Amino acid sequence: MLNAKITGTGSYLPKKIVTNKDFEATLDTSDEWIYARTGIRKRHVIAEDESASSMAEIAANKAIQAAGINASDIDLIIVGTSSPDRVFPSTACLLQNKLGARGCASFDVQAACSGFIYALGIANQFIRAGGAKKALVIGTEANSRILDYSDRSTCVIFGDGAGAVVIEASEEPGILSTHMHSDGQYQDLLYINNPIKDQKQWGDEAYMTMHGNDVYKVAVKTLSRIVDETLEANNMAKSDVDWLIPHQANIRIIASVAKKLNMPMEKVVLTIENQGNTSAASVPLALDQAVRDGRIKKGDTVLMEAFGGGFVWGSALVKM
Ligand SMILES: CC(C)(COP(=O)(O)OP(=O)(O)OC[C@H]1O[C@@H](n2cnc3c(N)ncnc32)[C@H](O)[C@@H]1OP(=O)(O)O)[C@@H](O)C(=O)NCCC(=O)NCCS
Repeated sequence: MLNAKITGTGSYLPKKIVTNKDFEATLDTSDEWIYARTGIRKRHVIAEDESASSMAEIAANKAIQAAGINASDIDLIIVGTSSPDRVFPSTACLLQNKLGARGCASFDVQAACSGFIYALGIANQFIRAGGAKKALVIGTEANSRILDYSDRSTCVIFGDGAGAVVIEASEEPGILSTHMHSDGQYQDLLYINNPIKDQKQWGDEAYMTMHGNDVYKVAVKTLSRIVDETLEANNMAKSDVDWLIPHQANIRIIASVAKKLNMPMEKVVLTIENQGNTSAASVPLALDQAVRDGRIKKGDTVLMEAFGGGFVWGSALVKM
């Protein structure tokens, strides 16, 4: 059976930066509180003429260039996003048109902050089963469009951006395993109502709501379990992992997963301080940064993990 290998990465961050200090003018908050509780100092916010698909396009083109292929070679596009341009067509379909990758399959995955890991898992299965040869997998989020900027418990946490990978069928080892889970009993701890009008069941307010402290506790336990599950599935020891690329939700959650892996923080790719939580985009943004600055090299073993509203969580163990 063929493997699915990451052959190119790319990312995009909007130009505008909002610092913790900027929030002090409008909210009862402080740089000290935000940094101490989350590890975040600033985040990027999209311009009026940008969107999930426009950010995805820039990230995708960089990944395509890095892979040395053409957009027309792509036969599958999967986008993880919770802040799509439209309910439908999917952001993947809008992206396909922008890239000129006519005719290939394209769809979105809604798995909140785990959207990229889910998309990667699905694309991996497609390639291994022979259903695709060159896939584009993206996480892109226009979180600023779904935040209530008067709610200090959410708006200071999230940022905008996009990350992309090209994965291709290969004889070499690539994605070693992916793991996906969910537990809908936690649906009221982190959610956004549907903006479709007259939703009597849920209400009309379509902003992110998060009970952060409850989310935190489940996230720490769950992510620790998925580290074990991933290593066991591959018959690997903690010391076999070269890099951890965690979802960038909270520096304290990240540190607890690193501790579980006995991994020094220098081996954890961190973007949270400068990017905040970019939901489905955070893992591919961090991956691209570490590939481009030379930290992650060909042959390295990388563990990626994410956790988000649902709850949904997942991991991927990847030989680069
Ligand atoms: C969101 C998070 C940073 C909040 O930190 P926390 O230590 O849990 O803080 P709490 O929610 O218990 O709130 C403590 C107090 O700070 C206040 N507070 C919340 N946001 C604040 C802010 N931006 N500035 C100042 N105070 C704030 C709360 O209102 C609360 O005040 P009270 O005690 O008077 O009620 C943290 O819970 C977290 O990171 N959770 C996990 C997020 C996550 O992983 N999401 C899943 C993936 S998207």
